[in-house]
Amino acid sequence: MPSRKRVYSGIQPTAVMTIGNYFGAVQNWVRLQDECDCVYCVVDLHAMTAPYDAAELRSASTEMFVSLLAAGIDPDRTIVYIQSTVPEQTELCWMLATLTSLGDLSRMTQFKEKSGLLRGGLTEDDGTFISAGLLFYPVLQAADILAYRADCVPVGQDQSQHLELSRGIARRFNTRFGHLFPEPETLHTPITKVLSTADPTRKMSKSLGPKHYIGLFEEEDSIRRKIRSAVTDSGTAPAAGAGDTGDRKASPGIENLLTLLAACGHPADADRMREDYFAGTLRYVDLKGLTADALVALTGEMRERRADILRRETDLEGRVMEMGERARAVAGETLALAREKMGTFAPPT
Ligand code: TRP
Repeated sequence: MPSRKRVYSGIQPTAVMTIGNYFGAVQNWVRLQDECDCVYCVVDLHAMTAPYDAAELRSASTEMFVSLLAAGIDPDRTIVYIQSTVPEQTELCWMLATLTSLGDLSRMTQFKEKSGLLRGGLTEDDGTFISAGLLFYPVLQAADILAYRADCVPVGQDQSQHLELSRGIARRFNTRFGHLFPEPETLHTPITKVLSTADPTRKMSKSLGPKHYIGLFEEEDSIRRKIRSAVTDSGTAPAAGAGDTGDRKASPGIENLLTLLAACGHPADADRMREDYFAGTLRYVDLKGLTADALVALTGEMRERRADILRRETDLEGRVMEMGERARAVAGETLALAREKMGTFAPPT
């Protein structure tokens, strides 16, 4: 019998998980648990490459850890852990850095964007501090994935380049030191892109402010209020009976609500309402009402689960440590093999 594929993915720690995070990634992670052996990581070490508040990082990471459990990541089947609890990965990161070309790293789009290279050179003359951590970001990501010898990595399109780099690093290691790593494939699964309800021309994001996002564990009243005031038409409504509904798009605000309705498990209702929209008979209050109901039903369950976890887990930090131990057992095995092949020592025990 073919063994189950090993899946790995990571998410940045933020104190609030939005429905954008959920529908865009985590919902898919939850589903993958049925078919694959999954490892999911809260990448606090990656978060340190952007300006951050040291006093808040640990609580944000713990909050994201709890959010993943509340959203349906099942610690009995899945390893879910916080990156900094597994020092084996950072050692592997160093080893892999010696197999990574500087040219490749400096050509990464994300690095160029974040370092401002696209805006004008890497000189730091303007006072911006460009850390080497930003450059190393994809090496650490490769170490994450390869430490668990993952086969598949579910990520968005923006991470394809980093995955390509991870494959190159794995290949170089295997060629030079003998086979150890599978070349991790990008798992392109249909993901749902959620837009801001207050400005449906932009992606839902916490950085735009509280009007622009809906938290996965937000109170029912607040969710209903945000859906009720969601921007719908940005001008042109279709003429009544405007004909074939094929792959035509409604206004961004309407599309966003239809997307949410479908993502909450009501695709048939969403289809019907899209038809009504093009027939000119859709009442926006109906769409908003149905979407709010669906969202409240789905998130209500998760909000309860979250409260339950917080009530039950009196020692959250202990729980985080326990999961870290499980992750270390796997990463440690890989690291031992990597050390042996590359000719380095293990630390004294
Ligand atoms: N870079 C990823 C992102 O920004 C997060 C991440 C870190 C990750 N390590 C990973 C994703 C390993 C997949 C696998 O979304």
